[in-house]
Amino acid sequence: MSTLKVTTTSLQRRKRAGQKITMLTCYDATFARLLNSSGVDVLLVGDSLGMVVQGHDTTVPVTLEDMIYHCRAVVRGRGNGAAHVVCDLPFMSYQVSPEQALRSAGRLMQEGYAESVKLEGGVAIAPTVKRLTDAGIPVMGHIGLTPQSVHLLGGWKVQGKTPEAADKLISDAQALERAGAYALVLETIPAELASRITSAISIPTIGIGAGPDCDGQVLVLYDVLGLEPHFQAKFVKRFAQLAGHVHEACSTYCDEVRSGAFPGEEHTH
Ligand code: KIV
Repeated sequence: MSTLKVTTTSLQRRKRAGQKITMLTCYDATFARLLNSSGVDVLLVGDSLGMVVQGHDTTVPVTLEDMIYHCRAVVRGRGNGAAHVVCDLPFMSYQVSPEQALRSAGRLMQEGYAESVKLEGGVAIAPTVKRLTDAGIPVMGHIGLTPQSVHLLGGWKVQGKTPEAADKLISDAQALERAGAYALVLETIPAELASRITSAISIPTIGIGAGPDCDGQVLVLYDVLGLEPHFQAKFVKRFAQLAGHVHEACSTYCDEVRSGAFPGEEHTH
């Protein structure tokens, strides 16, 4: 585990050196502390918090204020740790114009203390990526299944399955690199296409449901920990089954409070 600060440029060096990048979503200070000390390279304050923290069905209702609030908590929890903190620009905080994007990204950095921002889209959003990077704001792109467009895409479907759609995604990746993006998330695309995109650009690709050949991997933390017991996408691996432990701990707590077993002598002043 490296204790050197992870930066946008050190992530690019990892790609050149063939070292895989690890990224997990993170929404609060407690987990930021734990993920940082576990050696996770990048903490993504993802707008997936709209689903796993706020209980929405999609990321669409998440606001810029929500993102700033969670990003501040994550940066506080990470403290002086090595992990890089990237924060999602939520739906409608950057699509209106490059100037709107610049103001929103500026708020994520000045008020949320984000070290870089992530936004969704390909060729069409490239001028916005250029505007942000020209202003000194590092940008991570996100193509393939872009959750903010889930209603346009007709659901959570694998993208880039036809030759035309695959070519379009390769052009999107190249346009984002030319515009100055420092890395790209590739979400829910065939592994073979992710491999072609990874070879076609010199910036790192970080895959979620995009196979093993990406330069790094990202998952939603609550999926990794098994806190979402009801739904499991094909690309998710649960590295723990915490939902059962949470259940057991909380129902034991209820039993002990009701029976009077808690608090005991040792918990009493
Ligand atoms: O918000 C999020 O969790 C994301 C990941 C799916 C990459 O953008």
